[in-house]
Amino acid sequence: MAKDQNFVCSECNAAFSKWSGKCDACGAWNSITERKPLAASHGSKSLSGRRGQTIELTDLATQEAEPPRTEAGVAELDRVLGGGLVKASALLVGGDPGIGKSTLLLQAAARFARNGLKVIYISGEESAAQVQMRARRLGLEQSPVQLASESNLRDILTTLEAEKPDLVIIDSIQTMWADTVDSAPGSVSQVRASAHELTNFAKKNGIAVIMVGHVTKEGALAGPRVVEHMVDTVLYFEGERGHQFRLLRAVKNRFGPASEIGVFEMTGKGLIEVKNPSALFLSERGKPTPGSVVFAGIEGSRPVLCEIQALVAPSPTAQPRRSVVGWDGSRLAMILAVLESRCGIAFAGLDVYLNVAGGMRINEPAADLAVAAALISAREDAAMGADCVFFGEISLNGTIRQVVQAENRLKEAQKLGFTTAIMPELSKRASAPAMELKQMQDLAGFVNDIFGP
Ligand code: TYD
Ligand code: MG
Repeated sequence: MAKDQNFVCSECNAAFSKWSGKCDACGAWNSITERKPLAASHGSKSLSGRRGQTIELTDLATQEAEPPRTEAGVAELDRVLGGGLVKASALLVGGDPGIGKSTLLLQAAARFARNGLKVIYISGEESAAQVQMRARRLGLEQSPVQLASESNLRDILTTLEAEKPDLVIIDSIQTMWADTVDSAPGSVSQVRASAHELTNFAKKNGIAVIMVGHVTKEGALAGPRVVEHMVDTVLYFEGERGHQFRLLRAVKNRFGPASEIGVFEMTGKGLIEVKNPSALFLSERGKPTPGSVVFAGIEGSRPVLCEIQALVAPSPTAQPRRSVVGWDGSRLAMILAVLESRCGIAFAGLDVYLNVAGGMRINEPAADLAVAAALISAREDAAMGADCVFFGEISLNGTIRQVVQAENRLKEAQKLGFTTAIMPELSKRASAPAMELKQMQDLAGFVNDIFGP
């Protein structure tokens, strides 16, 4: 940025050398403010700041090794939090509108309140009566939770100062409005300022704050994204609208492992935890059909089995379709290319549809082999064995690579009654005594194994 560009647009962060009513970069009106330089320019004497203090790292050794936590008593939620809610921490819970964030947090509020925390639930979207109605539907009307319907940040902070709760839930951060910032609620600068104020206030006063943020499917809404780096923990609540399963996924956690998931089911009486997700994800599986295989996956610290379905059909157009739900589209393109060039199985002129059943989203490369198996099975119209699970990463030269936690995957598969695993070669013996382990070196070998040389 040029040295004298001290006027900055609060909407898009573009810098200008002089003030104007409209931002030339994003077209926003009245969004340009002057920025005073923080550090004194070269040559001047004083920075006019207050001198801070530093502490020897070793002097902090008396502090507890683990931060104090409160458990909700819901295993699926506590696991994602890394073992309970940490005092004076800031969390962001993101997700699509209507996915169930308010429901989840009202239920969590009731749980934490029952476990002794003073909880305030502040809604900027619904009136207190509406929240109460929801609570009644969830059977939580007797919970000792304080409700408020408020969106003015100054009023909220004043209330919190007086009430001194242990936990405050802000639903949602997009509805909050700080009067120090001159733009509409929901704008990036408002969201950023509100989250910043709330987080600071919470940390100073020993309050845990959970902020709800609406995110669109593509993560397009910039608002909550700017909050991610400010908070200690970012959780995403995901799921497909048509399905009742909901996943709470930790994408960042300063107080626990990231990528941990909790599985819930949305029912008429709110969310209930799902203790055995594999059984749930496989519950709709009928008799074996071509294109359907079971992937032994790992989500966070826990194995989750799910069904991968592929459909291959002659394409009516010159540009065949590649459609993916619950997996990565470019990864599918890679697997198709490897199948074609290393195994001679071509998909030219064919539409390919790939779906992870139950609304689950898989990010692991370990699903490669299961996807390849589903594609081959669909292409050849031959069902794979019903008692077989797949896992393994495929590299561009067709080698099947090892993946993490093979043993956990096998144990889970065995527990659910699977008898065969098609998988990479193991470096050490895995103990799944009741299972036949077919360890494959490469994709071509796998294809030979199924269809004979
Ligand atoms: P909500 O928590 O309002 O979503 P968000 O806060 O993420 O926008 O949940 C909305 C959906 O959840 C709504 O479509 C109805 C459904 N729902 C149930 O199925 N059961 C329930 O008990 C509740 C409260 C909501
Ligand atoms: Mg809501």
